[in-house]
Amino acid sequence: MIDTIQIREAIPSDAEKLLNHLKKIAIETGFMTMGIEGPGKSIETETQEIEAIVASDVTVMLVALDKEEIIGIAEIHGTNRPKLRHIGDISISIAKDYWGMRLGTMMMEKLIEWANGPSSSLKRLELTVQARNERARRLYEKMGFNLEAIMPRGVKDEGMYLDVCLMSMMIGEI
Ligand SMILES: CC(C)(COP(=O)(O)OP(=O)(O)OC[C@H]1O[C@@H](n2cnc3c(N)ncnc32)[C@H](O)[C@@H]1OP(=O)(O)O)[C@@H](O)C(=O)NCCC(=O)NCCS
Repeated sequence: MIDTIQIREAIPSDAEKLLNHLKKIAIETGFMTMGIEGPGKSIETETQEIEAIVASDVTVMLVALDKEEIIGIAEIHGTNRPKLRHIGDISISIAKDYWGMRLGTMMMEKLIEWANGPSSSLKRLELTVQARNERARRLYEKMGFNLEAIMPRGVKDEGMYLDVCLMSMMIGEI
């Protein structure tokens, strides 16, 4: 991986750069659920969300920076609803110029490490990925995620209904 890249937890002052990254990714690849409409959030809202994430035991957000620019985001997103607060939903997006440099592998390793660590109360990680997204599917399989289901018409992109895979990984004992 390039020496100038640093991976760390997101901080509230990352909000603007983070939204810029999401806007860029949304049009760079058809693999995200977000499209040309972008994240649709203000910097203030994003700042508040990151503040809440920093204090959370069910959610973590990592950013990858090349010098000052955010070039990757990886998140485990949980909920405080009591019946669901053991489940974390994973998402990851890396700028196209940086694909294939093992950055995805490193960010996923760090998320899974966090989920298994003392700051987390998660027992299950899950994610959805388009069946046609072979790079992401291989990454998740390599990290130990299992395919649970294929959801026909799970997403619609450019007028086409596409299969979406539901994958999961259990965390610790219950
Ligand atoms: C999917 C994504 C996170 C992967 O990150 P990355 O940094 O490119 O991945 P890595 O370099 O760590 O490679 C991960 C694995 O992908 C697989 N892979 C790499 N290049 C590939 C290719 N051209 N075709 C198929 N699989 C490929 C390999 O198995 C690789 O692991 P290995 O090199 O140890 O065998 C990144 O490409 C991305 O953000 N894509 C756009 C958004 C997206 O698809 N997000 C996921 C939505 S669910």
